[in-house]
Amino acid sequence: MALKSNVPPDVIARWQANKDQAKEVIAKAARLVMPEPRSEAEALFFQKCTICHDVGRIIRNNARGDQWDAIVEKMRGNGAPIDDREAKIIAEYLKSDQHRSLDIKTELQIEEPLDPAKECDDDPAMP
Ligand code: HEC
Repeated sequence: MALKSNVPPDVIARWQANKDQAKEVIAKAARLVMPEPRSEAEALFFQKCTICHDVGRIIRNNARGDQWDAIVEKMRGNGAPIDDREAKIIAEYLKSDQHRSLDIKTELQIEEPLDPAKECDDDPAMP
C-alpha cells in the first residue's frame, strides 16, 4: 500500500512560511530592550551585568541589601570583568533597588503594544 500525503504542496509551503513568521515573533518576544540608563551606575550595571545572562535573571532574584555584595562577588568569580570600584558601584546600585523600577520591554511589546481597547472587546466566546 502506498502511503501518500494528500496535503497539497502549496498548503505545506504556506504552513512553513507561517512557521518562519512564528519563529520571528517568538524571537522578538524573547529579546529584551533596555531603556536609556538613568545614571552612570545604571549604565555600568547594564554594561557589565548583561554579558552572560539577561537582566531578567537579576530582576527575578529577591536579594536585598547586603546580599548583593555576595552576589556581585560570586559573579566576579564567574568571570564578570569588573574591578573593585565597579563592583562597589554596582552593588550599591542594586542595594538601592533602582533595578526594580526599570521599564524593560520585549522587542515585540515595542513593535506591537497591547491595545487596551482591543483586550476588552466583546468576544462572544468569552463568558
Ligand atoms: C562572566 C559571566 C557573568 C557575568 C558578567 C555576570 N554573571 Fe550573573 N551569573 C553568571 C552565571 C554563570 C550564573 C549562574 C550560576 C551562578 O549562580 O553563579 C549567574 C547567575 C546570576 C544570578 C542568579 C544567582 C542566583 O543565585 O539566583 C544573579 C542574581 C546574577 N547572576 C547577577 C549578576 C550581576 C548583578 C552581574 C553584574 C555584576 C552579573 N550577574 C554578571 C555569570 C555571569
